Amino acid sequence: MKRSLSGIQPSGVLHLGNYFGAIKQFIDNQDKTDGFYFIVNYHALTSLSDAEALRKNTYDVVLDFLALGLDPEKSTIYIQSDIPECTELAWILSNVTPMGLLERAHSYKDKLAKGIAANVGLFTYPVLMAADILLYDANIVPVGKDQKQHLEITRDIATKFNLQYGETFVVPEPQIIENLATVPGTDGQKMSKSYGNTIEMFASKKELKKQVMSIVTDSTPLEDPKDPDNNITLIYKLFASEEKVEEMRQKFTAGGYGYGHAKKELLEAILEYFSEARAKREELAKNPEYVEAVLKKGREKARSIARAKIDLVKKTVGLSGNNYR
Ligand code: ADP
Ligand code: TRP
Repeated sequence: MKRSLSGIQPSGVLHLGNYFGAIKQFIDNQDKTDGFYFIVNYHALTSLSDAEALRKNTYDVVLDFLALGLDPEKSTIYIQSDIPECTELAWILSNVTPMGLLERAHSYKDKLAKGIAANVGLFTYPVLMAADILLYDANIVPVGKDQKQHLEITRDIATKFNLQYGETFVVPEPQIIENLATVPGTDGQKMSKSYGNTIEMFASKKELKKQVMSIVTDSTPLEDPKDPDNNITLIYKLFASEEKVEEMRQKFTAGGYGYGHAKKELLEAILEYFSEARAKREELAKNPEYVEAVLKKGREKARSIARAKIDLVKKTVGLSGNNYR
């Protein structure tokens, strides 16, 4: 069975982009692959320096994973920092990683362009991501489109290492679902925790309503025809059948149908789509022992694989293998 592996940063509250771009694929892959899904809290340190917030977000993402349908009987669910071998591997990999490869990374360049003072962690972020993936011989990495280049960096690092030291790592393939590759936010740009344009599937009803109502539209009067491919229909498409979407588009084209009406329909569709997950999350939040048991099981399985791999890599590069080690 092929191994599918992916991580999500606990840098804030998860949103529709994370779900449709990534988590839904994890769940869809569960029966056909050996899944490894984890919360990348070492990565989140590059942008989050509030310890309490990091702890809380990390736990919240575990609850989100389980509530949305990741099944610990089928997939290995764990927290990245429970597997310190990934940082050990990252150091080794950084020695086969050309500076230029990281200097060309869009996500790093975008952050610099936004005036974020870069630390070394932010710069070497893709090497740690490569370590996360290569440590487990993952074949498939389900992600949104924004991670495509990071995956290419992982592939480059694996290929270079294999050439230099002999076949050691599986070169992974990204899994990006084209029509879900970039979920738009309330302002029409890519939905992202860092752009303040998110719709969060586990927000309170009141908050969720506020987020949906904040979707940016133009000021066309109620009676007039409107662009059927506006920010509301683009998000509605994620939830509704083709017929329902077509119905909404036609109402916009006909006129007499306001953005407010459409936002109400969208809100209902979101609540309905996530109703089971929302109820399940409330139950899980009352059962920390269960959540801890899931994480313990995930940690033990992931760690035993990681240890075997790091032992092999250390021998391969000459860090161990002498008679004294
Ligand atoms: P954010 O940009 O909100 O910080 P992350 O970088 O933590 O999100 O992304 C976690 C996963 O969700 C990644 O696989 C990423 O590609 C995916 N993802 C994030 N935002 C979107 C989006 N708007 N559309 C599709 N996928 C997304
Ligand atoms: N860089 C990814 C993101 O921001 C998160 C990530 C870290 C990841 N390690 C990974 C994704 C390994 C897939 C596989 O979304």
